[in-house]
Amino acid sequence: MNGYKYKVTAAGRINIIGEHVDYCGGKVFPAALSLCNTVYVRPNGTDKINLSWTTLPDKVTLDINKLEDYGSLKYGNYQAGSAFLWKDAGHEIIGCDMLHDCTVPFGSGLSSSAAIEVSTIAALATLAGEKLDPVEIALVAQRAERDYAGVNCGIMDQYASACGKAGHAMLLDCKTLDCEYVPVRTGDYALVIVNCNKPHNLVESKYNERRAETDAALEILKPLYGISCLAELSPSDFSACTALSGKMYDRVKHVVEECDRVKRAELAMKSGDMKQLGELLNASHESLKTLYEVTGNELDALAAAAQSHPACAGSRMTGGGFGGCTVSLVLKDGVEDFKKSVALKYEKATGYKPSCYDATISDGITAETL
Ligand code: GLA
Repeated sequence: MNGYKYKVTAAGRINIIGEHVDYCGGKVFPAALSLCNTVYVRPNGTDKINLSWTTLPDKVTLDINKLEDYGSLKYGNYQAGSAFLWKDAGHEIIGCDMLHDCTVPFGSGLSSSAAIEVSTIAALATLAGEKLDPVEIALVAQRAERDYAGVNCGIMDQYASACGKAGHAMLLDCKTLDCEYVPVRTGDYALVIVNCNKPHNLVESKYNERRAETDAALEILKPLYGISCLAELSPSDFSACTALSGKMYDRVKHVVEECDRVKRAELAMKSGDMKQLGELLNASHESLKTLYEVTGNELDALAAAAQSHPACAGSRMTGGGFGGCTVSLVLKDGVEDFKKSVALKYEKATGYKPSCYDATISDGITAETL
């Protein structure tokens, strides 16, 4: 890109399994995608950050001494929040021109916001001549999402966006941030990403509501079991537990069982057992639908259409839910037919046309001098 000094990218992500457990201290199993946010950046010798986009006509200027003031911007709030919290963490912010080019579809559940936050911080750090520390960047980006954008998220998205590795999924322990890179070897199967294309609304408030429910459940269970997070509750302690009822019981049941599915998915991936991995995806979707209630008609119709296809070993929603994408494990030979027949069935059921994305499993942050 003409005239810019650095090109910095951060990835979108899929989550293979381990949904709505990151903020409960559980293990998750995401992978970074080739769909990413790219920032072209150059210093401009002022105390302003000038933002522009390849896909939008808008231009926004941020004053680096007033970064706290931009929370209500339609475009630029993620960049402002990221710069604000990076500065707050003690880093230098240099006035610059930033051109953003995002190939992660917005509202897709593939973490476009994390890709924007992480790439913005990585671009600012690159400009200041800092050595990039992807884990630190992920943690500050998470604070930007929480404290600036108001979504009380876990660490999964920002971690995957920053620390992803081509060809690998990350088995990330969200309590300790220990991460094992596991090669994604799906044999005869491909991971297929399909967007239900239902417009998102109220996603943030519903997300925060689920999070509050699990926090409240933890307060009840902490003194009874001596646990510090819900992921520490064993399936056997949970099945003997009488302290929870109603929705709160359902939410915790999802968390406990989803954590167990992640363990089994790890074994299935490592041993190449795609049938088993597929069954775990189906069970995860069912639990997110009935116990955690974060799917909705469209994601349910899309997952059901996928699951009924003969080439599909399993399918589930990925990300926060209430819209966005499914991830399906599909026999490579059957992928073309899968895409066509799922699209037909889904559109018939809901009236929405789905989109499929061709993406590979890629690195998290990349930075190059132009
Ligand atoms: C969103 C959040 C993540 C995680 C997922 C659900 O993507 O940003 O932290 O909680 O939802 O697994």
